[in-house]
Amino acid sequence: MRVAVTKIVGGEQLGELSQLQAVAESIFGRGQRQPGWFRRKLTRAGVEPGLSAVAMQGDEVQGYALLGRVASLGSIARGAGVGVVEAARGRGLGRALIDFASERARAAGFASIQFLAEPERLDWYLGQGFISVDAQLSLLGFGLGREQGEPPVTAAAGARLGPAPLWSWFPEAWERTPANERAQVEVEHGRAWLTREGRAWLVHRAELSAAGSSVSELMLALRRRIDVTTPVVVYPCSADAAWLEALLASGFEVVQRSHVVRRSLPF
Ligand SMILES: CC(C)(COP(=O)(O)OP(=O)(O)OC[C@H]1O[C@@H](n2cnc3c(N)ncnc32)[C@H](O)[C@@H]1OP(=O)(O)O)[C@@H](O)C(=O)NCCC(=O)NCCS
Repeated sequence: MRVAVTKIVGGEQLGELSQLQAVAESIFGRGQRQPGWFRRKLTRAGVEPGLSAVAMQGDEVQGYALLGRVASLGSIARGAGVGVVEAARGRGLGRALIDFASERARAAGFASIQFLAEPERLDWYLGQGFISVDAQLSLLGFGLGREQGEPPVTAAAGARLGPAPLWSWFPEAWERTPANERAQVEVEHGRAWLTREGRAWLVHRAELSAAGSSVSELMLALRRRIDVTTPVVVYPCSADAAWLEALLASGFEVVQRSHVVRRSLPF
C-alpha cells in the first residue's frame, strides 16, 4: 500500500480558503459560531492565499497557517490561525506551516508575522521563535437596556476614528464587517464601535468624549442601549489597562486571555 506524503503548499493551491472551515472546526470546535463564520473571519483578517500555507496529504488537508494583510499594522503580517488535525500533530507540521508562511511573508516584504496565542499554546509559539509582545483579555458583561427607555443599538454608521482610543482592535476588522452587522454608537460619555457576533455585541473600540468621564460610566451608558441578557464583549482589553479594575467592578468579568506573539523575518 502506498502512503501519501504530506506536502506543504501555498494557500492558492486550494482554490478557495473557505474550504478550510470543516478542518478548522475539527481542530478548534464549532462552538457557538454562526453559519459562514470562517469566510467572515478570512475577509476581516484580510487573509491572502499567497501568504498562507496548507498541509496536504493527497487530497486531504492536515493543517494550515493563515496570514493576512492589514494596512494599520504596517510591515507586520497578521496571522489568522494555525492548526493541525489531531492525528497529524507532533510531527513538525505546525512548524513547517509557520516556516512556509513566514517565507511567503518575507518575500512579500513583511518584517514580521504576528499571531494571537491562547495561554495553552504560548509555549509552542515561543518554541518557534516568537516573542510575546502584549497580553490581552476579553471581558464579558450584559446589556442593561430597554427599561431605561434608551433607543436600542441598530444604526450602522462610520464616524471618523479619534486619535486616542481606550482600546482598539485593528480598525479594518470593523470596516470589513458587513454594514448591517456593525454599529458606531454615541453615548453620554463617549462612543464605541460594535459588531454583532451571534447574539453578542463585540465592542472593538471605544473613546471617551471628555477627560472627566470614566470608562465604567461610558460602558454603563453603552450597556443601557443594549437589551438585558444580550452579551457585551470587550476586546482587546490590555491586561495592564489602568481602568481594568473599574470595569470589572462595574459588572464585567474576564472570559479569555491571549498573547500577541511576534516573530521577526527573515527567521
Ligand atoms: C499547536 C499546533 C499547531 C502545533 O502543531 P504540531 O504539528 O503538533 O507542532 P510541531 O510538531 O510542528 O511542533 C514543533 C515543536 O513544538 C513542540 N511542541 C508541540 N506542542 C507543544 C506545546 N503544546 N508546547 C510546547 N512545545 C510544543 C514539539 O515538541 C516540537 O518541538 P521539537 O521540534 O523541538 O521536537 C497543533 O498542535 C494544533 O493544531 N493544536 C490545536 C490548535 C491550536 O491550538 N492552534 C494554535 C492557535 S492558538
